[in-house]
Order: sequence, then C-alpha cells, then structure tokens
Amino acid sequence: MPVDILVGTQWGDEGKGKLIDVLTRDCDMVVRFQGGNNAGHTVEIGSDKFVLHLVPSGIFRPGVACIIGNGVVVDPVALTAEMRDLEKSGLDVSAIELSDKAQLIFDYHRQIDGLKEAAAGTGKKIGTTKRGIGPAYSDKADRCGIRGWMLKKPAELEKAFREQAAKYNDIFVARGVEPIDIDAAWAKVADAAAYLTPRVTDTVVSVNNAIRAGKKILCEGAQGMLLDIDHGTYPFVTSSNTISGGACTGAGIAPTHIRDIWGVLKAYSTRVGEGPFPTELFDADGEKLRQIGHEFGATTGRPRRCGWFDAVASGYSCMVNGVNKLAVTKVDVLDQMPEIKICTAYELDGEILHSVPSSADDLARVKPVYETVPGWMQDTTGCTCYKDLPENTKKYLDRLAKLVNSTVAIVSVGPKREQTFSAE
Ligand code: GDP
Ligand code: IMO
Ligand code: MG
Repeated sequence: MPVDILVGTQWGDEGKGKLIDVLTRDCDMVVRFQGGNNAGHTVEIGSDKFVLHLVPSGIFRPGVACIIGNGVVVDPVALTAEMRDLEKSGLDVSAIELSDKAQLIFDYHRQIDGLKEAAAGTGKKIGTTKRGIGPAYSDKADRCGIRGWMLKKPAELEKAFREQAAKYNDIFVARGVEPIDIDAAWAKVADAAAYLTPRVTDTVVSVNNAIRAGKKILCEGAQGMLLDIDHGTYPFVTSSNTISGGACTGAGIAPTHIRDIWGVLKAYSTRVGEGPFPTELFDADGEKLRQIGHEFGATTGRPRRCGWFDAVASGYSCMVNGVNKLAVTKVDVLDQMPEIKICTAYELDGEILHSVPSSADDLARVKPVYETVPGWMQDTTGCTCYKDLPENTKKYLDRLAKLVNSTVAIVSVGPKREQTFSAE
C-alpha cells in the first residue's frame, strides 16, 4: 500500500516541512489535507530558506505532484502570491493541483477572525494566526462556503463572493467597524482566480489514480495533534482535524490504503498562541530553548512558548495518530543542556494522571511530574548517522520512544536536509 501520512504530534512547528522535503526524495506525490495558510513549513536547501504556507513541501523535488486537497481551506490570493514567489525563485509550480472541493478563504473571513479575537475577554482569546481559518471552516459546516471549482467560473464566483461579502459587511457595520471594500477585494480574487484556474482539478480522482498506479504518496499534515479540533486542547485549537485520520476525509483516501504514520516529534515542546501548556518554562532554560532553537513563528513571527518534553501529551498524540515511525527533530537544540527534564505524568488535585484531561481548565491546572536525565553537552549538528550520536542522546531518544510507545525511525540534528539520518 503506497500511502504514508506525516503529522505533527505536538502543538505544531515540529519540523514537518523539513521532514516532508527529506521523505519526498522517494515519493511521487505529496498531499496537504487540512489547515490553510495558518501553517508555516520551513524547508532549508543549501543556503536558501523557504517558508511554505499552502504549497506542499514536496515542491522542491522535480517531478513530485503537489496536491492541495479538499480538506484544506485556501485563501486564493495568498496561494497565488506564494506560487508567484516560488516561480520567481526559479521553481516549477506546474505540478500543483488545487482541489475543486477545497473551501476558499476571503478578506471577510480574515477580518471576522481578527474581530472575534479582539472581542474575546480575558482567558478566551485563542491567539489565532488571523488568517480566517476558523471562520472559513465555520462557513463550510454552515454550508455557505465557496468551493474551489468556482475559481473556474468567474461569473458564479463573483455573485457568490459579493453575496457572502455583503452578509459579512452587515455584521461589520453592526459592530461599528469598517466594512470590507467589496470591489477592491473582488479585483484581487478575480486576478487570483485567473491565475489558479488551470490548477483546479478533482484531486480525489488524481490521488486515487496515483494509488491505483502504485505511486508512492505522502500526506502532509499541518499544525499538530494537540491543536486538533476534536482531540486537542479545545477550545485552544485550530478548526480542522490535524490527526492522521484527517487525511482520509481531507484527501479522499480510503483507510485501507494507508501504510505508515510518521509522527514528527520535537525533542522538547513549543506552543504558539494561547492555551494550556503544562511543561512551559518561564525561566532561563525556556529562553535558552527559544534562542538556540530559533523558536519564533514561521507564519506570524510570534515568539513560541517553550518547555520540556511532555510524554503525557505526546503519548496521547501518538496513540490517537497511530504513529509507527517517529521522526525526532531539533535534538541538537538540547546539546547545551547539562540536565534535561521529561514530563512523565501530571498531578491534578493530588491525583496522578497519565492522559490529557479533556477540560482545558483542568489541563491548565496540572503540575508536571518530571524525571531528570543527564544531557550530553556535545555538538550533535555534525552527526551523520545514528552511531555518531553521544550515548546520552541515544538514551534520551530511547526513553522518549518508550514513553510514547513508538519507534524512532529518523533523527534530525539541524534544519538542513543533510542533518537527518535513519535511527537504524
Ligand atoms: P513545521 O511547521 O512543522 O514545518 O515547522 P516550522 O518550519 O514551523 O518550524 C521548525 C523550525 O525548525 C524551522 O525553522 C526549521 O528550519 C527548523 N528545524 C527543523 N528541524 C530542525 C532540527 O533538527 N534542528 C534545528 N536546529 N532546527 C530544525
Ligand atoms: P504548522 O503547520 C503552530 C495555532 C495558532 C493558535 C491556534 C488557532 O506550521 O505547524 P488558527 O489561525 O489556526 O485558527 O489558530 O492554532 N496554530 C499553529 N501553531 N503551528 C501551526 O502550523 C499553527 N497553525 C495554527 O497559533 O494558537
Ligand atoms: Mg510551522
């Protein structure tokens, strides 16, 4: 069976983009299946650094088909800008296909996203990326969203866009804020529609034809399991199913075709935006992780909150995702830590917990139970194979794998393609 799925096992930014780029060396097709341009997937090739938001991270491998599936919410203006930028860098974007069922994001979604955040009281703000993701998925569920196929029918698109925009403008006016300039917004959408039209297809057919032809397909998750709308730290989550199962609905792939589930696991924890984060560090160690790990958002530039590895949250995540192959990233960021802590359980009101409480309020109150392991205090960035790693690094990786009940298959010790090797 040729379909593998790669997902983030924490709160996003685990290094999925880098891993997709590495793994597509042996792939024919990469498929994004959820999220939108809230994602920021970094790929470093030589001295070039690219941050992808909607374009699948397989784009740097010539001949690899790049699919933006039906489960993705697509801002057509943002996608057009991203593709034009890639073209300017000399990349061929003709292998990109955009699902005719993908939901489209427009200016009014972004504006309402920002307004809701601004209006949210203390403790209610989610800290969204303000890309209109939640409102676009709301319109989808409310059955008033506009889908990809309309990009090919400008007259119908314009009518639907103007109707929806007018509806949202009524809300803006009622709230005393500036309505969007519908004519100006339409001009940008019309330009994007003209650019994207040749790329719009029934991607479910493309993907399933590739499966039948025995092609090797990799599905690219965005965000991370703990931001999943059902299984994450609700309501401090994104608005899609980020787990591996989301690939079936978001790309139109039957579960019987799935082979491996890759879980990308950062060697410590980070989170951007609001919401509970049991192992968050507010001390010098947290700042050290942020500085050495360059933990600043790839989409919004916000500093990422940093903390120790949380085996309760990540173990829960690996279970729900069914991760059978771990890619452990950013191991090098721990190189200068004399001691490393791992959260192995939570304590809540005197009780020891081994799974993640469903109430965000309870999760915010848990105290992490830590075990402390010795660091390795050696530079791992030059390691090129597993046996090069210091003994304490290997022990740390073994411990993480045991705690999350999975197997380390790949280790990453830097942002470059070459700084990646098999754990065998
Ligand atoms: P994604 O959203 O999961 O694709 O991750 P991001 O691109 O948002 O953030 C990961 C960051 O870590 C990027 O800047 C990567 O270039 C970088 N990165 C990936 N793997 C490693 C690694 O093993 N070590 C270090 N030091 N950086 C890494
Ligand atoms: P990648 O794919 C990290 C977070 C936001 C916010 C919450 C909801 O790069 O790992 P949204 O705009 O989706 O409604 O925001 O989700 N978030 C991410 N955090 N990495 C991401 O993507 C994220 N995409 C959304 O910060 O807390
Ligand atoms: Mg990211």
